[in-house]
Amino acid sequence: MSKQLIIFDTTLRDGEQSPGASMTRDEKVRIAKALERMHVDVIEAGFPIASEGDFAAVKAVADVIKDSTICALSRALDKDIDRAGEALKGANSARIHTFIATSPIHMKMKLRMEPDAVVEQAVRAVKRARQFTDNVEFSPEDAGRSELDFLCRIIEATIDAGATTINIPDTVGYNVPQQFGNLIGNLLERIPNSDKAVFSVHCHNDLGMAVANSLAAVVQGAGQVECTINGLGERAGNASLEEIVMAVSTRSDVFEINVDHIDRTQIVPCSRLVSSVTGFNVQPNKAIVGANAFAHESGIHQDGVLKSRETYEIMRAEDVGWSANRMVLGKHSGRNAFRTRMQELGVSFDGEEELNAAFYRFKELADKKHEIFDDDLQALVTEASWEAENERVKLVALKVCSETGETPNAVVTLNIDGEEKHAEATGGGPVDAAFKAIEAMVNSGTELQLYSVSNITSGTDSQGEVTVRLDKEGRIVNGQGADTDIVIASAKAYINALNRVMAPVDRQHPQV
Ligand code: KIV
Ligand code: ZN
Repeated sequence: MSKQLIIFDTTLRDGEQSPGASMTRDEKVRIAKALERMHVDVIEAGFPIASEGDFAAVKAVADVIKDSTICALSRALDKDIDRAGEALKGANSARIHTFIATSPIHMKMKLRMEPDAVVEQAVRAVKRARQFTDNVEFSPEDAGRSELDFLCRIIEATIDAGATTINIPDTVGYNVPQQFGNLIGNLLERIPNSDKAVFSVHCHNDLGMAVANSLAAVVQGAGQVECTINGLGERAGNASLEEIVMAVSTRSDVFEINVDHIDRTQIVPCSRLVSSVTGFNVQPNKAIVGANAFAHESGIHQDGVLKSRETYEIMRAEDVGWSANRMVLGKHSGRNAFRTRMQELGVSFDGEEELNAAFYRFKELADKKHEIFDDDLQALVTEASWEAENERVKLVALKVCSETGETPNAVVTLNIDGEEKHAEATGGGPVDAAFKAIEAMVNSGTELQLYSVSNITSGTDSQGEVTVRLDKEGRIVNGQGADTDIVIASAKAYINALNRVMAPVDRQHPQV
């Protein structure tokens, strides 16, 4: 029986570091529950010192999740570690992940520290973290560009200090598979106490090699991979969880380690949840979770698949959860059926009032759309949390006119800081006209960077999910909205982004 590969998901921490991908506390809890259903071993829930909101989100995840270990990130600083320890108090199983940069360029330019002082600070951080939990992870940041001798020295010292997991990050996605695999092999061989810790890898995708680098490391003895759903993460993202898990399980002939404990049927539902919450759509040709990942276009392929699916398919769509999105509820479904399915999806309600409000929204949707799928139910909850964020600007009414040969026109009523305002505008299309009318009232001074629409389910009665990305003097925010009417969904997304732009920022980034 082979060993299990530890799957460490960092969607809620590194994933959230993608510009515009920030998540609310409730959204993080929903995603954490989906990861727990998948039997992910470790969930990195956030960076508690970043802000009060980040602390509350890590705490909420730690309080609710019982089957996965909950991890919190901290720089190698006492105040960060104490805050992480505090946020994790309610966890069944808690891990503190502390890090400090070790590459010559990071030590000199970012930390302005001598290597001896870096080792000393790392050791102190690990010892302090051990006062809160005996599950401590240490990362030498930018290990992929660090000197091997120095890495061996700091890792040996931090294992002696009590680190139980040593994570090797390719922070800037610079490595190539053979080099990165060899790095792990060398570290395991050269560090005298390497058998006292699990070696982990954390690869970024700047050159598109995050998954390949991680897998090369697994072949050389890494026992944990850090990854994210849909490969979300800083810049080009992290190694994608779904690709790591499916590569290891599909090619069990190559790997001496397994992922049998991971419930692979949860992959697609979880991917959809993350893309809906963050507004980061999955490209159609993305492995495993892209809409085309199991679609066969050419006649020759279709013929082959019909005769015997193994001719062109190496995995089965249903094994990664593609069939999970079945029709679950409809117009005549009652409150109990609704509550039960929501519970199965990991959504619980704080009392009857919250349940009633959600059930009311469900009924409204069921009137417009007869078949309600799991993704519709998820969108219903996500939509409610977006609306709850719209503290200053709310959509009251929207009327658009679009006719062949005529200039599209929109009339919008907003409630801005408690006062109702109206504006009318024309535009290239109804969405453009609606955005112009909204901007005429809000005067946000933002620049539209991205506008995208995707359908939540199939069919022309599907809800459209819209993402709007705005740039305000270099600060990037995403806004989202969903509705069966895509002009209304667009206006909601724009208004959601404006509210996020107006909200105060008090957040610290861990790696600057
Ligand atoms: O990429 C990185 O180096 C990180 C560390 C904090 C582990 O995210
Ligand atoms: Zn990272």
